[in-house]
Amino acid sequence: MPSRRINGVKNHKIAVIAGDGIGPEVIEEGVKALRKVSGLDGTFEFDFTYFPWGCEYYLENGEMMPKNGIEILSGFDAIYLGAVGAPGVPDHISLWDLLLKIRHDFDEYVNIRPIKLLNGAPCPIKGVKAGDIDMVVIRENSEGEYAGAGDWLYKGQENEVVLQTGVFSRKGTERIIRYAFELAKKEGKSVTSISKGNALNYSMVFWDSVFAEVSKDYPGIKTYSYLVDAASMFFVKDPKRFEVVVTSNLFGDIITDLGAAISGGMGLAAGANINPERKFPSMFEPIHGSAPDIAGKGIANPFASIWSASQMLDFFGYEDWGKKLIDAIEEVMVEGKVLTPDMGGSSSTSEVGAEVIGKIE
Ligand code: NAD
Ligand code: IPM
Ligand code: MN
Repeated sequence: MPSRRINGVKNHKIAVIAGDGIGPEVIEEGVKALRKVSGLDGTFEFDFTYFPWGCEYYLENGEMMPKNGIEILSGFDAIYLGAVGAPGVPDHISLWDLLLKIRHDFDEYVNIRPIKLLNGAPCPIKGVKAGDIDMVVIRENSEGEYAGAGDWLYKGQENEVVLQTGVFSRKGTERIIRYAFELAKKEGKSVTSISKGNALNYSMVFWDSVFAEVSKDYPGIKTYSYLVDAASMFFVKDPKRFEVVVTSNLFGDIITDLGAAISGGMGLAAGANINPERKFPSMFEPIHGSAPDIAGKGIANPFASIWSASQMLDFFGYEDWGKKLIDAIEEVMVEGKVLTPDMGGSSSTSEVGAEVIGKIE
């Protein structure tokens, strides 16, 4: 991405797609946090441009975003997304035409999902304390089970057949595994691959062989390889064993909701969709959905969207500020006075947002 300077201040253009349900409620708090940080720092600033795309837009215009939506977004340095999905619009349309389209078209093939139990965060596992859960899931984000390949034959007939084809290219598999190893190398951590070679006799056997192959280039790094069912069990029974985790698109989707559940809940789980080559904008979002059950009530937890804003700061090279956002979230949880109902509190989204922002300095 070309970085611009305006009057000596580094300028980052952010496309905001707040989306549906609680999306706009939580995104607003993240935007405020980013504004606070840039104001305090003074050497960089954010330009936010809001796009009203999502399910309401679909009901009015018959499409989730304009035909040239991707072209419009390509002019931005990053995308900040809330959530997509609303009752009344089929999920496979709303997600494929917006969120998944952006991930695919911008080749955001790395999905970074930190699973870290902070101090003060509720954990449903007995005896597990902050520090015991500290992993990052590197989810393949461009192909695999989400390739969108398949067919629907003889629709509605007796001999109806549906095919959903997983696509695992050598390039796609190798680059995500290599990304995980590079991260582990940088941080001095182990790499765990999660797959399912015993049942998925093409895709996951291939995955495992590429994992073994790539690991030879990193002789100093400890590796583990688990079947996804066993890995799910260990997430709960012994989460400490995981450091850098690499897995396929669908498995990564599922185990990161499980990861959220053991490290504070959906209200805390963030994800970054990264195009490492920076040829296209990357996208930052809480990993939760539009939560229609609580939308409009002003009680959604904004921690996840603020955490994803922190990932955006890291991505732009402001890691110190990124860490300060996480520290602020942690402080608010430790104090335990201003929390949304999912964390046992009675405060609103904006009250919690203001509390976090007040602690950033
Ligand atoms: P969801 O994540 O929206 O909600 C699951 C549960 O977690 C709900 O009980 C919800 O109230 C709770 N929850 C989620 N985020 C919360 C927050 N910030 N604070 C407090 N509680 C929170 O998942 P779902 O119900 O399976 O899906 C709802 C819609 O969202 C569907 O249309 C789905 O396709 C879509 N979806 C979108 C995304 C995305 O845009 N990234 C992700 C997942 C689901
Ligand atoms: C996520 C979401 C999406 C996914 C859905 C909404 C398509 O669940 O980001 O975790 O499966 O990737
Ligand atoms: Mn998910």
